[in-house]
Amino acid sequence: MATVTVHSPATVANLVCGFDVLGLALNAPQDVLTITTTPGHGSITITNNDAFGLPTDPAKNVMGAAIRAMLEAGDLQADVHIESLKRIKPGSGIGSSAASAAGAVVGLNALVGNRFSKTELVQFAMEGEALASGARHADNVAPAIFGGVTLVRSTQPLDIIPLPAPDLFVVVLHPQIEVKTADSRAVVKQQVPLSKAIEQWGNVGALVAGLLMNDTAIIGRSLNDVIVEPERAVLIPHFKTTKKAAIQAGALGGGISGSGPSIFMLCDTAAKAAQVAEAMKQAYTETGIDFELHTGSINHDGASVI
Ligand code: HSE
Repeated sequence: MATVTVHSPATVANLVCGFDVLGLALNAPQDVLTITTTPGHGSITITNNDAFGLPTDPAKNVMGAAIRAMLEAGDLQADVHIESLKRIKPGSGIGSSAASAAGAVVGLNALVGNRFSKTELVQFAMEGEALASGARHADNVAPAIFGGVTLVRSTQPLDIIPLPAPDLFVVVLHPQIEVKTADSRAVVKQQVPLSKAIEQWGNVGALVAGLLMNDTAIIGRSLNDVIVEPERAVLIPHFKTTKKAAIQAGALGGGISGSGPSIFMLCDTAAKAAQVAEAMKQAYTETGIDFELHTGSINHDGASVI
């Protein structure tokens, strides 16, 4: 029998203009997973040490789906037991399912001598995302495994480009309402006018350039989504007011975190992040909806054995 414990980070997908391609990892919150292997023939068992009521049937659980893909790809002769303590609330928009899937495959990889590359681990973890939302997107699992900021250039074949992550501060406001990723994806139009596409890829290109150049002014003015945010904003009460308050308080920019309902802002200093968090808090208090606020920095390591 062999056991490892893994911390697996929350992530912000899309980074506003990079729908399904950009994402970053957060230092907090992080899930804690304990993975145990025994010699066997691929049975997977799951224990949830939290009150979220997620499925323990491996066929219905994102960790089960990811581990199943890994066992089959590696023809691994092991039974796997996963204990999960979630600190990232499901349905929050900060990559709760991705943290589970990423943490599980990083843990099993450590137990089998790190035989898989990070890109292969992302491939396995994407099976969890497909189970959770019906979409095989990698913009949460890539930063959850690589850490920092990642660009998913392609999912078929999978091509992940880690980008330099400046020392920015991230404020996340999580309204305590549920927005399912599948529902949030359903409101996104399948057709995009060329004029909007031009604006969007201008922003995505500039955001990547801003990250490479560590230029916060370019980063700030590139955090603009003319395609997805206008459709999804209606799902999040007080989104526009909260975003405006955050920008006025000094945020570089921000928007919907992943598929929502969390709203995130990037800031260039800890002091600005504190001001922005306060402004968002004041703006959101007016809704009467409960919320949680997280302020932190970018996680550079991704899911890690501790
Ligand atoms: N890119 C995905 C979406 C992320 O926006 O639907 C989901 O967390």
